[in-house]
Amino acid sequence: MPELRLDKFLADLGIASRRELKEIIRRGRVTVDGLPALRPERKLDPETSRVELDGELLRYAPFRYFMLDKPPGVLTAARDPWQKTVLDLLPPELRRLGLFPVGRLDKDTSGLLLLTNDGNFAHRVISPRSGVEKRYYAQVEGDPSEADAAAFRQGLRLRDGTACLPARLELLGPGECLVTVQEGKYHQVKRMLASRGLPVRQLRRLRIGELELDGKLKPGEWKELDKKDLCRVFSSKIM
Ligand code: URA
Repeated sequence: MPELRLDKFLADLGIASRRELKEIIRRGRVTVDGLPALRPERKLDPETSRVELDGELLRYAPFRYFMLDKPPGVLTAARDPWQKTVLDLLPPELRRLGLFPVGRLDKDTSGLLLLTNDGNFAHRVISPRSGVEKRYYAQVEGDPSEADAAAFRQGLRLRDGTACLPARLELLGPGECLVTVQEGKYHQVKRMLASRGLPVRQLRRLRIGELELDGKLKPGEWKELDKKDLCRVFSSKIM
């Protein structure tokens, strides 16, 4: 791996702002390979150097991945001058990592949202070519039927003429269903259900690929993902 400046190494881990890091380094709180490192511009190899802060070993992980249980009423954006965004739900040390939401949930939609600073990962999740399935729980006005499920399987045509790829609609009971899609057009699920005369009252994303929303998270809570979780995102079966 190419060499990195010490302050960049620490900043990538979201430990503190660049200014605060200078002070932390100046005070000798950081050691590299056992010796105090007092210059922020000092170069190191992030894979082989042993970097410690206050005696605690720091592992370099340039890209970070999180799942958030997005509550309704919060905007899916990195920042907004007026409205609360999903990034506002994270603590300051994570907000410094340059995270952004992977795809978009409508303001009134809740559930599984991924956040990362890895643009390639985000692109792979969103790209229709990857065929990553997204599964939603929907409460609708009216009762979804087998005929609706068949129309979803065939590939719906929306009211404005847009053709959708085949999708799955599972009946749960009066006014409730699960919808699984493999693309992410604007208001996709709401428009698909509306085209069958089933306006959506509530929408919640439950799964991306094979990665399920962690049921232990409360609305607005997040957790960091590991490599196994990331593999689950890309292991969905294409319909
Ligand atoms: N489809 C929608 O209509 N809205 C969302 O937020 C996500 C998928």
